[in-house]
Amino acid sequence: MAKIIGGLGTSHVPSIGAALDKGLRDTPDWKPFFDGYEAGKQWMREAKPDIAVVIFNDHGNSFFLDRVPTFAVGVAETYQPVDEGWGPRSIPAFEGAADFSWHFVDRLVERHFDPLVCREIEVDHGLQVPMELFFGRPARWPVKVLPIWVNTIQYPIPTPQRCWEMGKVLREAIESWPGDERVVILGTGGLSHQLQGARAGFINQAADRAWLDGIAANPEHYRAMSREDYVEQFGSEGAELIMWLVMRAAMNEQVNLIHKHYHAPASMTGAGMVVLENAA
Ligand code: DHB
Ligand code: FE
Repeated sequence: MAKIIGGLGTSHVPSIGAALDKGLRDTPDWKPFFDGYEAGKQWMREAKPDIAVVIFNDHGNSFFLDRVPTFAVGVAETYQPVDEGWGPRSIPAFEGAADFSWHFVDRLVERHFDPLVCREIEVDHGLQVPMELFFGRPARWPVKVLPIWVNTIQYPIPTPQRCWEMGKVLREAIESWPGDERVVILGTGGLSHQLQGARAGFINQAADRAWLDGIAANPEHYRAMSREDYVEQFGSEGAELIMWLVMRAAMNEQVNLIHKHYHAPASMTGAGMVVLENAA
């Protein structure tokens, strides 16, 4: 049986990666944001995971609006970081936990999910940035990845309840896997932001701060909310937060909130993270 050693939630704003590329980490705009992640990076160094399950959405880089899967799972041996238009990024490719991915896909289908299964695909900032935030800029990533894509781009997006159900299957897959790998689960996206329409620039700091505590202590509240509630409280793109529910549902009912960080604005978003461990 593999072991869940932690559940992390984090923003995946693309300008975070760009700030690192441009050497802006310690500028007045960015330093408070990055400093707040140091505790999470330290936690990750000590936790020594073997596999990172990363739940994120593609942003028109690997899937365009002509074909949008509601859920997709990577089963590749390697994932290249996609070039989002600013040229190739100087980060290593991501090694896939391919055998474990196939096992997860099998468990999903057994539980009546119908994911798109991806043997060859690139990963965008939704996966790149969380990896950089928690693992820094190593010459080689210290974990294998299992990427899970959730459509949060084109309506209808899946319900929070459905994301929760996927998290339950993820846990079952981890616990039924014969290996002894140490697994971290990264739910990504958010926090509040809206990049389009009449409310472009919308940030809801109060809702974001409540989320960071509530996702640990009272996830039922967020599971029960409608998709429209998410858009109203967090903005049309802030609805990415439904992806944290996959992570949270895979954890125990009771968790300990080990680290928490919030910063606003980062780019045009509320941004932050949590580190959760299962309570005994
Ligand atoms: C932006 C893009 C994202 O995917 C996100 O989650 C937050 C912000 C942006 O372009 O600013
Ligand atoms: Fe995003």
